Amino acid sequence: MQAKTVVDLPDHRISGSRILVRVDFNVPLDPDRRITDDIRIVRALPTLSYLLERGGRLIVTSHLARPKGVDPAFSLRPVAEHLSGLLDFPVRFCPELVGPVAQKAVNDLDDGQLLLLENTRFHEGEKKNDPELSRELADLCDLFVNDAFGSAHRAHASTVGAAEVLRERGREAVGGFLMEKELRYLGMALEAPDRPFAAVLGGAKISGKIEVIQSLLPKVDRLIIGGAMANTFFKALGLETGKSLVEEERVELARETLEEAGEKILLPVDCVVAPEISAGAPTREAERAAVEPEEMIGDIGKGSRALFADALAGAGTVVWNGPMGVFEMPPFAGGTLALAEAVAVVSDHGGTTIVGGGDSASAAEQAGVADRLSHVSTGGGASLEFLSGAVLPGVAALDKKEGSSS
Ligand code: 3PG
Repeated sequence: MQAKTVVDLPDHRISGSRILVRVDFNVPLDPDRRITDDIRIVRALPTLSYLLERGGRLIVTSHLARPKGVDPAFSLRPVAEHLSGLLDFPVRFCPELVGPVAQKAVNDLDDGQLLLLENTRFHEGEKKNDPELSRELADLCDLFVNDAFGSAHRAHASTVGAAEVLRERGREAVGGFLMEKELRYLGMALEAPDRPFAAVLGGAKISGKIEVIQSLLPKVDRLIIGGAMANTFFKALGLETGKSLVEEERVELARETLEEAGEKILLPVDCVVAPEISAGAPTREAERAAVEPEEMIGDIGKGSRALFADALAGAGTVVWNGPMGVFEMPPFAGGTLALAEAVAVVSDHGGTTIVGGGDSASAAEQAGVADRLSHVSTGGGASLEFLSGAVLPGVAALDKKEGSSS
């Protein structure tokens, strides 16, 4: 990446310094507030360990979920306990983010210790990138490390404001190892992919992905579209989509996109349909032109699975974001699991495979192929924004490497 990283910090700058480390510990919790998937925490460990081993005093911040003000249900305390287990030493937890209590907890830190501060989103100023909150965060530390790729598309006080204040004060603001790895893989796909380069986009809506389609189309050799977003393209082709989810206001755009893309876009040729999308629904396979008015499309069919696997075979680079169907429900999971396997086969043959975060990352786990992929991103929204060609504000706020223009 173009931003400096922790390896650009000399060891003597790390040792004894108070380092504000922004991570993305926005992890799913069950009703008993147990963490159900800790991958985002695990992926931040290399940066935390690197700084701890060099005697840094780590002040770690993250958001968790989307609370409206202070809400104990979204406290980061369970994450502190979990992190203690992963690092195998006691992590301190501070129930405040800034102010005297947080300042005292920071002052009490010794070299090689770690303090996790409370959820950044308990403060109204966080999402507004409030200058006062940014200053208060910057006051806690000597330098800033951003390893929160998953939040790099958010211009918030803890991702952007604090970094900017520190840089104005002549302090460093650099990326962590996870940030570097995410940007390296996604950047490689956009700038210098091994060809053929195929992208697979799925999920419910095209509205969030239209910029990605437009940015990727000139770069890819093949663009495969599945999931409910394919329904809007079916409609654009004049096909019956029954009671399926369709974004009516995007049908025209889908039509124009198909015209512009020509042969590059590959849509499903058949689907799994049902009277309703539910775990126990009776299903049938239908050609895409044979969907009945009272049916809903829940997954891609077997013909499409084979077609997509064929289209991916031999690819040099694959980027995949979004499931092919409602894969949380067994009757509609087959298409996504088959696609996950087809992507993994590309890796087995030496291709580079990059999977966007969120649902496709869970699908890759569920299919048991995550370990065979080159890179599973921890960022859902962030990876999509990156692929749409946007500059991520959390990255733009960091120190640039010498000689880099962006
Ligand atoms: C994510 O889960 O995509 C990131 O943690 C960002 O969360 P947000 O969409 O609530 O800002």
